[in-house]
Amino acid sequence: MNTFEGTRAAIGSGAAAGSGSTGASQAAPAAAGGVPVLRVRGLTKTYGLGDTAVAAVRSVDLDVASGEVLLVMGPSGSGKTTLLLMLGALLRPSSGSIMVSYRDHRETDIATAPEKQLPALRSHTFGFIFQDYALIDALTATENIAVAANLAGTTGAAASHRATKLLDRVGLAHRATARPSQMSGGEQQRVAVARALANDPPVLLADEPTANLDASRGRDLARLLRSLAREDRCSVVIVSHDERLREIADRVLWLEDGQFRPLTSMAVDPVCRMAVETTGAHVDGQGGRIWFCSEGCKREFVENAASFG
Ligand SMILES: Nc1ncnc2c1ncn2[C@@H]1O[C@H](COP(=O)(O)OP(=O)(O)OP(=O)(O)O)[C@@H](O)[C@H]1O
Ligand SMILES: [Mg+2]
Repeated sequence: MNTFEGTRAAIGSGAAAGSGSTGASQAAPAAAGGVPVLRVRGLTKTYGLGDTAVAAVRSVDLDVASGEVLLVMGPSGSGKTTLLLMLGALLRPSSGSIMVSYRDHRETDIATAPEKQLPALRSHTFGFIFQDYALIDALTATENIAVAANLAGTTGAAASHRATKLLDRVGLAHRATARPSQMSGGEQQRVAVARALANDPPVLLADEPTANLDASRGRDLARLLRSLAREDRCSVVIVSHDERLREIADRVLWLEDGQFRPLTSMAVDPVCRMAVETTGAHVDGQGGRIWFCSEGCKREFVENAASFG
């Protein structure tokens, strides 16, 4: 089985991409300077065949600029993870192109690159951050990062030195010898961010990076991602339901049924602060209709409306 086939994913069509504040449709970033780091055209992923086929991402167009923080939001099952996996060459698209532009002006279409080139392409292009941190518990914080540096070709003392520097960068120098199980969720996610930076990638890809963090740790993590984009000119693409991440995003796109759509159909659940569709659980308040992600959040709101302002 090849790497793409062995990875979970899917997608569907839609060239439009809404900007956070206006909901205007555009695939190109507002402040695009020069050639985008990622240029995606007609990206499509269909899982399965025939009657059981799922069009998870449908003909998506997208440009990601250097140093940009792009947040892709959307309901569960809308194709966010599938899109991110394809961007990171972890899942082979059904069709379309993903052009990566490197600092030395080389360009590669990772959608069609031969399988044997993918590990090297990944290790020189992307850092990955996952919801569940995905750290190795038998290794210390430093070792988890050093292993990623090894995979990118930095070995021995140089790898340890890089790991130490990166731990310091994410504010965890004092936890260098701790194992993941001895760390808080916020600390583990910061180690995961440091690990994602081990290969000095031009693009960081994050799937629900704050989902397991409480409000304050989620904000800290969001600020860290923001500063990396600013200081390293690293592009950060985040897929998430987490409304808090909007604060650090240069652009917010809304993915629904595998296509980008204007953001106008989106609301914020006042209880969990997640972005939600304007369908399903709601109450009619004095200021208009209020939408919830679930009956649970709605119940919590109704029982204690005053505490939600
Ligand atoms: N390996 C797979 N085989 C078949 N269908 C899949 C596979 N992975 C995902 N899907 C389907 O593709 C669609 C998009 O899934 P995806 O995981 O990309 O959504 P998502 O937006 O990340 O959802 P969530 O917010 O719940 O993580 C869903 O209908 C899902 O059931
Ligand atoms: Mg997902």
